[in-house]
Amino acid sequence: MSAEVAANADAADRVVLRATNLHRFLGEGESRVHVLKGVSFEARRGRICAVVGPSGCGKSTLLYLLGLLDQADDGRIEIDGHVMSNTDDHARTAARGTHIGFVFQFHFLMLEFSALENVMMPMRKRGVLGPAEMVERAHALLGSVGLGDKTHRLGTQLSGGEQQRVAVARALANQPSIILADEPTGNLDVKNSGLVFDLLAQLAREHRQAVVLVTHNPEIAQRCDFTRPMRDGLFL
Ligand SMILES: Nc1ncnc2c1ncn2[C@@H]1O[C@H](COP(=O)(O)OP(=O)(O)O)[C@@H](O)[C@H]1O
Ligand SMILES: [Mg+2]
Repeated sequence: MSAEVAANADAADRVVLRATNLHRFLGEGESRVHVLKGVSFEARRGRICAVVGPSGCGKSTLLYLLGLLDQADDGRIEIDGHVMSNTDDHARTAARGTHIGFVFQFHFLMLEFSALENVMMPMRKRGVLGPAEMVERAHALLGSVGLGDKTHRLGTQLSGGEQQRVAVARALANQPSIILADEPTGNLDVKNSGLVFDLLAQLAREHRQAVVLVTHNPEIAQRCDFTRPMRDGLFL
């Protein structure tokens, strides 16, 4: 590949995630619900997209599909140009570890482990870096979320805002091209919400990651690059 082609392929606004006509049904029998009714979506490097909409409209279901944590009943998902719908679990798990970082409302940290251990977990799982490199990278990431002096604190010894900052650092552990965040500031107060969002946005812009962020907070949605409102299983 020529340098010019490589540079274009890596352009700042390259589409890294493309979903086409996703359908998802959940539940059984009479309670079976058509949750996603043909959703199409794309995410580009370096762009932060807010997904907003009333509770129950399908935001989390969509993020699970985009993150390869669940499979669509119909439709197609491409990550970095590779079609991931219809691939086996092994390929999906590998793609998730390589391309995607998650931040959830409830951080799902291992509270009995240190901040450093939590950030190293995705790196261990991926198995590319050696022990010293993992420690170094985890230190750097915790430094970048302002927790450089608390790397050895256990999760239980950190505040809610600090725990969510560890979750942001953990999401960045494997340098993913896509960050999926489901109400990442949903259980934080105003000050910490702003702080966690600013860190996530700043780091994602710096590393040219695509961010898809579900939020109920209009101030945070406003600070994203664009907003996609969702209703009843479809984007408006
Ligand atoms: N396992 C399930 N069985 C049946 N319905 C479900 C299941 N999970 C989610 N739903 C329904 O799917 C819809 C979308 O849910 P969700 O994606 O969590 O919405 P949101 O994140 O926008 O609040 C809701 O109406 C919810 O009740
Ligand atoms: Mg939800």
